[in-house]
Amino acid sequence: MKDSQPKSIYLKEYKVPPFIIESTHLTFELEDSFTRVTSVLKMQRNPLSQERSAPLLLDGVDLQLESLAVDGQLQSAADYQLANEQLKLPNVADSFELTCVTIIKPAENTCLEGLYLSSDMYCTQCEAQGFRRITYYLDRPDVMSSFQTKIIASKKKYPVLLSNGNLVEAADLSDGRHYVVWEDPFKKPCYLFALVAGNLHLHEDSFVTCSGRKIALKMFVEHENAAKCDHAIASLKKSMTWDEEVYGREYDLDIFMIVAVNDFNMGAMENKGLNIFNSSCVLATPETTTDAGFDRVESIVAHEYFHNWSGNRVTCRDWFQLSLKEGFTVFRDSEFTADMASRTVKRIEDVNVLRTAQFAEDAGPMAHPVRPESYMEISNFYTLTVYEKGAEVVRMIHTLLGAKTFRQGSDLYFERFDGQAVTTDDFVQTMEEVSGKSLRQFVRWYEQAGTPVVDVSSSYDPAAQTYTLKLTQHCPPSPGQPVKQPYHIPFALGLLDASGADMPLYLGVTDTPAESSTLVLDFTNSEQVFVFNRVVEEPVPSLLRNFSAPVRLNYAYTDAQLMFLMQHDSDGFNRWDAGQKLALRTIREIIDGPLQNLELLEKASVNPLLVSAYRALLTDGQLDRALVAKMLQLPSEQYLIEVSTNVDVERVHLAREKVKRQLATDLREELKSCYHANQSAVSEYRFTSAEVASRTLKNAALGYLLSINDEQALGWAVKQFEQGSNMTDCLGALAALMQSDFEAERNRSIGEFYNKWERDQQVVELWFSLQAASQVSTRLPEIEALLVHPAFDIKNPNKIRSVIGVFATQNLRNFHDVSGSGYRFLADKIIQLDKRNPQIASRLVTPLSRWSKYDEKRQQLMLAELERIMASGSLSKDVYEVVSKSLVR
Ligand code: TRP
Ligand code: ZN
Repeated sequence: MKDSQPKSIYLKEYKVPPFIIESTHLTFELEDSFTRVTSVLKMQRNPLSQERSAPLLLDGVDLQLESLAVDGQLQSAADYQLANEQLKLPNVADSFELTCVTIIKPAENTCLEGLYLSSDMYCTQCEAQGFRRITYYLDRPDVMSSFQTKIIASKKKYPVLLSNGNLVEAADLSDGRHYVVWEDPFKKPCYLFALVAGNLHLHEDSFVTCSGRKIALKMFVEHENAAKCDHAIASLKKSMTWDEEVYGREYDLDIFMIVAVNDFNMGAMENKGLNIFNSSCVLATPETTTDAGFDRVESIVAHEYFHNWSGNRVTCRDWFQLSLKEGFTVFRDSEFTADMASRTVKRIEDVNVLRTAQFAEDAGPMAHPVRPESYMEISNFYTLTVYEKGAEVVRMIHTLLGAKTFRQGSDLYFERFDGQAVTTDDFVQTMEEVSGKSLRQFVRWYEQAGTPVVDVSSSYDPAAQTYTLKLTQHCPPSPGQPVKQPYHIPFALGLLDASGADMPLYLGVTDTPAESSTLVLDFTNSEQVFVFNRVVEEPVPSLLRNFSAPVRLNYAYTDAQLMFLMQHDSDGFNRWDAGQKLALRTIREIIDGPLQNLELLEKASVNPLLVSAYRALLTDGQLDRALVAKMLQLPSEQYLIEVSTNVDVERVHLAREKVKRQLATDLREELKSCYHANQSAVSEYRFTSAEVASRTLKNAALGYLLSINDEQALGWAVKQFEQGSNMTDCLGALAALMQSDFEAERNRSIGEFYNKWERDQQVVELWFSLQAASQVSTRLPEIEALLVHPAFDIKNPNKIRSVIGVFATQNLRNFHDVSGSGYRFLADKIIQLDKRNPQIASRLVTPLSRWSKYDEKRQQLMLAELERIMASGSLSKDVYEVVSKSLVR
């Protein structure tokens, strides 16, 4: 909590640390009501620092200092100062040993940073600045130290005691306690420190690396979750193999551990040798986890594992460089997933997140560059911009350099910077060095916030057989950045002839066509013209293939051209995107039309071309079913809102519903055949792309059919819900029911579902989310009822996300109810939660921060709630930063 207004930290004020910590020896005594931490730090002045006589300043938050000694000399209160979350020692030698004993209270730690308790187990979360809640330290990533950790605890209550690195000692004490000593041979910043103590089940396996070393893989979970480890371990082994094959990266310790905890602010954490996961991101079985859940586990396990090189061996100099590890690692995990299943489907999913949520962030009050220039609270910068846009930036470098050169670059990067804390500039310069290409202009992607807009126009000259594309780019202003410089945009495209085939591409005056039918243009000016020769007929352009850059693209396609691209484009992503564009246009015609809200569902007319396009998707047996499954999903309400202004949420909802129902009505028989054709032949669950595609298609068909209250489909849904042998089928049926008008069946099945699964926390989370998201049955009173349900727990971040988070981000018509009740509710929860867990409270502000999207009435209501939060008293830095920035008009 703050007394005065939090201040900003600036990248341009970076200075090397005045001290180095050679080694860190920690002893944790886990007592019933407190933990004693003894730290012994071997320190010296940093020869690279200009400040030769600077005082020693160590970070520390919520610590009780028991004693302090320098080179064994006990310090008295006159020898040091404690203020502003810092411990100051004015006079220290050039080299010394600091011994510091602190008392902390894990049981009272509700913010889930530092050392805390989660269902009877001790665990830590130190990124970004949680270590300062454990002991006084130089809590910054460019201070890298070797760590030795001794843990002493009751053997009965805490038989499992873990930390980073290798176990070097373990023994029983005479008083019922035992102790262990862990040693991490790799120097690391303290944000990668971890400790776990509990009574846990061990799931063991092993992996043999490319050089023949055998690695012990250990997964620790609560006993009740013993049967939920297989998928994570299988994913881990795949990740280890992939990183050897694709990046030449071998694992470095002899042991790799994964722990599942129930109370966790984020998805997972890459602590060296000891990854800690939110249970919901690592535990899985076919009976309890959907296909989406299996996907999530696989990609998060991979993400954390890949951090061992991109993040741990090579780490960040300061937190402004966060995307150095996160953008690169998201790029790596996304390519991994693409290689495991369908590359096109993965690309579609990533772009959907980017265009829906990251573009919204880039257009909102918290917009910041991939490498931010300032922050008040770093936790607020674990964003879609740093992660997903950061990954796009790395992807663009990959596109510009080609896979082979990019690999040379990553090899050199890992070799040159191993054991160091570096910057995004170091990464980019390495890529320049291996490629000989200048990325001078390209680095604006790291420096400028906002999403560039690319406008394209074309003209065909039949006499000269030339096709001319004119591209212009501009980027709207963002906070602190009124004017932007042009970006270096890798713009991939192809040209289709009348048969739908790719034409050879002769760019400029040349006799030889480009090697590939997809060309990547270097689009670097505000305005640029590209002329293609030998173009024998007027082509249909396939622009920004595979979404080669994170931009908003405008080109005046006709409906017929979009239909054509949907059917013929050799680029799977653009095929999907053409369908989305057509659907988006169809829905927006209705939103922007003259009908009153009440009339939208009855009188609106839907472009018949969309219906034919969807019919073609459903009846063409040759198509890739994974792609069809994606193409059948209409653009989400969130996306419709993102691409609109002055939004009336109810209209958006009704217009989209109308299109959905029209498709269902006109394609009823096709949808029914699709449902039947995609029944699995085997009852055993398999997580393969083909099976996932079948289940997705089947459940999509069911969703359409139930939206028009088809009685026959109701019967199928009930049967699938009751007899489905896996969670994807059960939940698919239940989700379709929940968005339908069959009230009795809805209520009965959601009740049965709870009774069946009430002892499984992961499934109970799904149960909460499903209800919170139901636009048909869940208005604010139902949300309030969920909050007093015995299974709800306001202390648990997953429960908060699955009820409050889902309501505010997915149940849009009810959250945005024109009475303002949804906004008032959310503001109340933010104020309440901020006192316990600022990170979680701060993330809940996002929906309110987007006020400028909505109609005047809603804007006023949202702003009033932001003002009320602001005036509510002492706010955390986290919430203060987001709310105050959201109120700038
Ligand atoms: N480094 C983690 C990841 O991306 C992110 C993370 C986990 C995190 N827990 C956190 C970030 C707590 C901030 C606060 O894998
Ligand atoms: Zn990460």
